[in-house]
Amino acid sequence: MAPAFAMPQRQGFTTLYTGPLDTDISAMSLPAGFLDELRGRLSLAQVVGRKVVWDRRKSNPGKGDMWAPCPFHQEKSASFHVDDRKGYYYCFGCHAKGDAISFVRETENVGFTEAIEILAREAGMQVPARDPQSQQRADRRTQLSDVMEQVVQFYRLQLKTQSGEGARAYLQKRGLSPAAWDRWDLGYAPRAGLFHHLRDKGVALDLMVDSGMVVVPDDGREPFDRFRDRIIFPIRDARGRAISLGGRAMDPAAPAKYLNGPETPLFDKGRNLFNMGPAREAAGKGKPLIVAEGYMDVIALSEAGFGAAVAPLGTAVTADQLALMWRITDEPLIALDGDTAGMRAAMRVVDLALPLLVAGKGLRFALLPEGQDPDDLIKARGAPAMQAVIDAAMPMVRLMWQRETEGKVIDSPERRAALDKQLRALIMTITDASIRKHYGDEVNRLRQSLYGPVAEAKPGKLQWRPGKKATAPSGPTAAARASMLAGSSDQERLRVAVILATLLSCPEILPEFELELERMACHDPDHRDLRAAILRNAHQPDLRAAIEDSLGHMPLERLFAERHVAISPAVRRAGDAEVARLCLAEELAKLNARRGHAREIEEALEDWEDLPGETVTYRLGEAAKALDRAGRGDDDDKAVYDISPNGARLKREERDAFDALLAQIGRGKGQP
Ligand code: UTP
Ligand code: MN
Repeated sequence: MAPAFAMPQRQGFTTLYTGPLDTDISAMSLPAGFLDELRGRLSLAQVVGRKVVWDRRKSNPGKGDMWAPCPFHQEKSASFHVDDRKGYYYCFGCHAKGDAISFVRETENVGFTEAIEILAREAGMQVPARDPQSQQRADRRTQLSDVMEQVVQFYRLQLKTQSGEGARAYLQKRGLSPAAWDRWDLGYAPRAGLFHHLRDKGVALDLMVDSGMVVVPDDGREPFDRFRDRIIFPIRDARGRAISLGGRAMDPAAPAKYLNGPETPLFDKGRNLFNMGPAREAAGKGKPLIVAEGYMDVIALSEAGFGAAVAPLGTAVTADQLALMWRITDEPLIALDGDTAGMRAAMRVVDLALPLLVAGKGLRFALLPEGQDPDDLIKARGAPAMQAVIDAAMPMVRLMWQRETEGKVIDSPERRAALDKQLRALIMTITDASIRKHYGDEVNRLRQSLYGPVAEAKPGKLQWRPGKKATAPSGPTAAARASMLAGSSDQERLRVAVILATLLSCPEILPEFELELERMACHDPDHRDLRAAILRNAHQPDLRAAIEDSLGHMPLERLFAERHVAISPAVRRAGDAEVARLCLAEELAKLNARRGHAREIEEALEDWEDLPGETVTYRLGEAAKALDRAGRGDDDDKAVYDISPNGARLKREERDAFDALLAQIGRGKGQP
């Protein structure tokens, strides 16, 4: 049994990643009720108990309420909570969360299929055979993959024939030796030939078409090959199965320099990466994972010794692809072509990555010399030059800062305020409270080097109600204790209201948040009823109607009449899943931070007798700061000004989280 501290730090993929690595059995293909029965038979505490040491003082086994130091991040205290009755775990420190299946996936580093098998064995259940439909789908994929392999081999041979002469010369000119062609299975697609070849081999036309390699014209003429007169780069999935092709024109006048296969049942562009399998292996041997833009870059990098190189497949990097990269390594390195398009692509990655960051996972950016991509650089100056670029890579926060400041003259209070607002909006998109805090700190440092220190704002320090101590030095009075514990319930109520209304306004995202919804503490009776009704009716086509049927219309009416609810962006833009997701992530993060805060206070107060007063005061102060970082002091309705994370004085309404959110959404959509 691996000790808890040696476990891989992987969390956050359970909800994000359901992609190509383990699609053979999906939750969908298991018979209805199987997973519920599995979860029902297992004790999560038992599953988790093999990987952690329970905190016996804090745990209450009789109630299924278990606490331990978190296996997903390093800590001495026990912030990892298992609710054995509900079968969920949650870490108040790093926010790792999930059920028995995700726990096994993350700690054993296995896919969904294997996790199910492990748990089923333990529960004494038989993993059922796949249902006939998914079996058929799997068979179809196998057939398509076989066709793709035939295509790859056909084009590979063409490269060696008479008609491949131009292609061979081209590859030589680009510095690739015949040995490298073989390593990458490179090929040449002549102007025609594939269709006839496959037909002669007895491949059915619908398979050729579904593989994306052959096109049937509408006008009844003979089918033709999609790739004509192009260098062929086979694209394989993580297990090495051919799933599509990229093709490069040699003729500079060709309408598209690169052509990629279309989306097919095998080829999901957003969920695969070029060279994924070999890169994963190389990264496992310690090579840095480098994300380049093009096929030729990946090949050049690998050939030069940087074997853990991948590229997206002709589209911008997606969230799924980031998840894939973070599965391979904690800090993928994005290599940017040294041109404006490369820079723009990198910035899109920044915007995509910010809300997805979790503790331990980040990105670095390697800037290439102006006008060069990794292929150019390696060819011009060799592997050491590339290594130097890698060594000089900068963390994401720097790139973000650079984008917001570069080329701008920030010489007036108005311009500084505008910059602050922009940076604040960006940082607010980070959902992980601790990472958000560190981004705030770093941006603060960068601001100071740009502006010089701001005297009244205490550089680099987050302050919660300046001048006011979190506790009296001699310890809190009974009344103070009570108010500290009770103080935040109103805010929590409002957040819960916004969360419920958001889900009601965009039920399509409900499946992603079901777990959190179940776990969310609800004190208001209306909210409790609504939550139960939402969960009960989650699969109804008209959620609101179903809820009205069971509760009447009053609870809904009262909910949507709340002011915070009415002005919430997700309610105002009902049905917009992107807004709803952002909104929920934000509200849930704050709610969780608040609960962590309440817990901290409780613990600090419990420990009051055995600890020196200073320690408790410190812990309460830290808890208050943590709360401010996540919740931005929003339980304080009297103060007109606050100190923001970037050290500036802000009007309350100016730092309203909803405003920041709206600003971010507007920016994301390219509006002013
Ligand atoms: P680049 O234009 O940067 O090409 O496109 P490159 O990789 O440097 O190619 P060479 O060196 O000129 O051969 C980067 C990637 O963008 C996609 C391809 O995936 C390519 O590898 N792309 C580019 C297309 O899908 N279509 C295009 O027309 C161009
Ligand atoms: Mn290039």
